[in-house]
Amino acid sequence: MGYFWQGVPTPLLRWAVETLGPDSVAVESGTYKGDSAALLAENFRSVVTIERSHQFARAAQTRFHGRTNITVLHGSSADLLEEALPDKDRAAFFWLDAHYSGGQTAGADYLCPAVEELTVISAHRSAHNTIVLVDDARSFLPSEGWPSIGDLCRLLDRSGLDVVLVDDVLVGAQRDALRGLHEHLGQTRTTQVPSLFPVYGLTHVAARTRNVSYRVATRILTKAKVMTMRSRRP
Ligand SMILES: C[S@@+](CC[C@H](N)C(=O)[O-])C[C@H]1O[C@@H](n2cnc3c(N)ncnc32)[C@H](O)[C@@H]1O
Repeated sequence: MGYFWQGVPTPLLRWAVETLGPDSVAVESGTYKGDSAALLAENFRSVVTIERSHQFARAAQTRFHGRTNITVLHGSSADLLEEALPDKDRAAFFWLDAHYSGGQTAGADYLCPAVEELTVISAHRSAHNTIVLVDDARSFLPSEGWPSIGDLCRLLDRSGLDVVLVDDVLVGAQRDALRGLHEHLGQTRTTQVPSLFPVYGLTHVAARTRNVSYRVATRILTKAKVMTMRSRRP
């Protein structure tokens, strides 16, 4: 669950729909109760959502029974994402949010499949019609079972995507599309978040520099949090 938003942040969603166009589709990893899948289905042509927990997958299948543009797959996104990919020519939005979240959620034995997911995306998608959002960026400090933010940036970079951090979400998209995002955030926020550009630079360093990713990632997250908090003060 995001730190600043629950589910897909509205400004990022609007920007992605505008950038990818009306025929684009969405893929989500980590369905949980299906709230983001429902939102994505209102904004994209179709949604495939993947949930490893048997209980949550069944509940979502029941919730979306009869909804022809939502497909719920049961299993790990590490195994099922490739199957869930749309045709290469179809513009696609990825909301990567699968990880252990305590309680009844799946993944106590395998905390986060983001590296496997991004490996599949980098092998099968083109940058020009792909946008990837990875939620919960604050969690990606290398500790047992979690990849580092640098690992994720390197994989996004391998896909030909530039990376920015917006609040708690890593955003991977082509550079021109990211310029549009900046304008969009400016229009839709009551307060500007000045963290975007400093963090953009630091994230790129993390993406390109091996062995320093922990130090850089810590700086990125601290800086982003401090600047975002400052921007929210009345
Ligand atoms: C933070 S919740 C997802 C919230 C949801 N995306 C939303 O925006 O409302 C994380 C979910 O990922 C699921 N999960 C954990 N590991 C997974 C994996 N390897 N593949 C798919 N789902 C996984 C958990 O069971 C949990 O329901």
